[in-house]
Amino acid sequence: MPDDTMTRTSHLIHDLEQVNTQLLQSEKMAAIGQLAAGVAHEINNPIGYVFSNLKTLAGYVNDLLRIIDAAGEVASLQELQALITKLEYGYIREDVQALIGESEEGIERVKTIITALKDFSHIDEEAFRPADLHRGLDSTLNLVNNELKYKAEVVKAYGHLPEVECLPSQINQVALNLLTNAAHAIEERGCITVRTGQQADMVWFEVEDTGQGIKAEHLGRLFEPFFTTKPVGEGTGLGLALSFSIVRKHGGRIEATSEEGQGSRFRVWLPILQPQDDREAMPSC
Ligand SMILES: Nc1ncnc2c1ncn2[C@@H]1O[C@H](COP(=O)(O)OP(=O)(O)OP(=O)(O)O)[C@@H](O)[C@H]1O
Ligand SMILES: [Mg+2]
Repeated sequence: MPDDTMTRTSHLIHDLEQVNTQLLQSEKMAAIGQLAAGVAHEINNPIGYVFSNLKTLAGYVNDLLRIIDAAGEVASLQELQALITKLEYGYIREDVQALIGESEEGIERVKTIITALKDFSHIDEEAFRPADLHRGLDSTLNLVNNELKYKAEVVKAYGHLPEVECLPSQINQVALNLLTNAAHAIEERGCITVRTGQQADMVWFEVEDTGQGIKAEHLGRLFEPFFTTKPVGEGTGLGLALSFSIVRKHGGRIEATSEEGQGSRFRVWLPILQPQDDREAMPSC
């Protein structure tokens, strides 16, 4: 290649790389923006009612203190009883329990969201290393066994896999999310099948369930942060969004197929090897 063509080519490559970096950066910013808006929305609701409950509780404590103070001061029992009735002690007694319970639930929800966000932010901490995917799947299955055993029979159909260069604990996290989703999708009792296989330079693992399936109009939204069809308090809608970003970081992809009323299948594809640049950055002794 003539010199000036080579120079132009290398400029072009440089420009393309810059555009690519900018694109990735703006994609990241958009994702962060979407996440932040979602977090604000999700946290706002429980914080709102915990705050209002605290105000009501403060009023109740005030009334209860008045009753206790009066107990030492009033001349007759009737007078005390009149105050108790006036301040609706019976109602306060019941409502206090309800407000505390509801507030605890709200704080628990905020805690769950914060933990999931921490998982997001820790994504960069581990190093890529060759790992046995089957071992990871087995230990994840053990971890969720308690949740699965009442819901489903678990069938393993493992193929032959080479070691896969990955962030093992994060891949386990993906498997965990898919398995819990599968268990949640099964109403009575069903079957969860975990399969693995290899195709050329990629491996895959999948979790298939015989649960309720996914509505066609929801299929395109599954990986959106905070997309959930679960009742408030049962799902944050971060499981698949987190899994998606983990798998994308590996240069892989997740495929979801489902038939309403029949069940769903989530297949995760991962490259066996990471690009050379990343491997050179891997720590070695
Ligand atoms: N195996 C499945 N069967 C049926 N629906 C599913 C399945 N997996 C995911 N979904 C649907 O996708 C939604 C999003 O899943 P995701 O794991 O991101 O959040 P979640 O399970 O609702 O909450 P979280 O995982 O944060 O506790 C679920 O609420 C559910 O509607
Ligand atoms: Mg989930």
